[in-house]
Formats: sequence, structure tokens, C-alpha cells
Amino acid sequence: MTLNLFDDEDTAQHGRDQIGPQSYVLRGFALAHADALLQGVDTVTAQSPFRHMRTPGGYTMSVALTNCGEWGWTTDAHGYRYTRIDPLSGQPWPALPAAFLHLAHDAALEVGFPGFTPDACLVNRYEPGSRLSLHQDKNERDFDAPIVSVSLGMPALFLFGGNDRADKAARVPLFHGDVVVWGGVDRLRYHGVMPMKEAPHPRLGSRRINFTLRKAG
Ligand code: SIN
Ligand code: FE2
Repeated sequence: MTLNLFDDEDTAQHGRDQIGPQSYVLRGFALAHADALLQGVDTVTAQSPFRHMRTPGGYTMSVALTNCGEWGWTTDAHGYRYTRIDPLSGQPWPALPAAFLHLAHDAALEVGFPGFTPDACLVNRYEPGSRLSLHQDKNERDFDAPIVSVSLGMPALFLFGGNDRADKAARVPLFHGDVVVWGGVDRLRYHGVMPMKEAPHPRLGSRRINFTLRKAG
């Protein structure tokens, strides 16, 4: 018999999957910090709640978003951009929780991007049926810094495409505690998330929280 002290750690796969020349999935990298990360999400959303934003094309996103850090990503009828003020609260975006900063720094370092100091974090909330169509993260000023993406809650199928929208996208399953890092030659790869299937997570129920740390300013 084995002693089950850490449920998530028992069931999760560890190690890394390389998904591009400078892109990796670090399996279970965030698991040990899940409590602090979820507490961070609660602190952020108490100040700047999740909301469904509109795209410039007038479509309401199925993923609910918020941000923390000096810069926050927003979309409305006028386009996609980073702002210092949350348009909903009228206040600056909440501070980046220390746990987010440390995890992002350590994950980036782990795969060859030392000194990563994000100043923006987009927090996404997915429910069954939510999806994110293929896009590039290209509203940031600094493409030398990688993107660090942390998954919590329900599993998702992450789409990781190429530098052209038409390039075939790999389907990468992501689980609670997985961290994806892409940067360097892969920094502008198209990516997205397949429509979410109902698969309640013991901790988060029928939700997936993903946050991506970036250097935007
Ligand atoms: C994103 O591209 O902002 C999110 C990716 C994800 O939810 O895994
Ligand atoms: Fe993205």
C-alpha cells in the first residue's frame, strides 16, 4: 500500500513535454502551489471580477476574463489593447500575487528563459462549452519574454499551432497544475482552447482557470 499524502500529486504525471523548439508543458509544475495560486485568483477577482468581454467584431467571448499586474488585456468595440485601469472598476488592475510571480519566474527559468519578470497577467475562466479560437499573443511590447500559462481545474485540449493561422495545430491535453511556456522562436505561435467538456474537478468543480503571465509594457 502506498501512502496518499497528496492526492493531486499522486494522479498527476510529472516531467515535461516539448511541443516546439522553445515550448514546453511542465507537467504538475504548479501543483505544490495550487492553494496559494487559487487564493491569489480570489484576491484578484474580489477587486476585478471576471467578465465576458466583447471583441471588436461584436462577438461576446465565451471565456470570462480579468487581469492583474501593471497592465491588463482588454477587448471592446475599439479593439484589443493593454490598459493600466480596469474599465469595469475604474481602478488600476489588482497587483500580481507574489505566488504568480515566483511560479512564472521559475517555470521560465526551467526551460531556458532566465530573469522573467512579468508585468501583466490575463486570468481566464472556462466553463463547459467555453472555447478560445486560435490567436497570437501579440499586443505585448516585448516578444523577447516568453508566455507562461498556468492551468487549474478541469482539463482542456490546448491547441498549439504554427506561425501561420492555417498551420495544423497540435492538440495538447492540459491538466490541473500543468504549466506551458512558449518563447523565443515560438513566441508568436497561434494557440487556442477546444470547446470545454464537462469533467468536474474535485477542487474547482465545472471550471477551468488559466492564467498567462506576460511582459506587456
Ligand atoms: C490564452 O491564450 O490566453 C489562454 C490559453 C489557455 O487557456 O490555455
Ligand atoms: Fe493567448
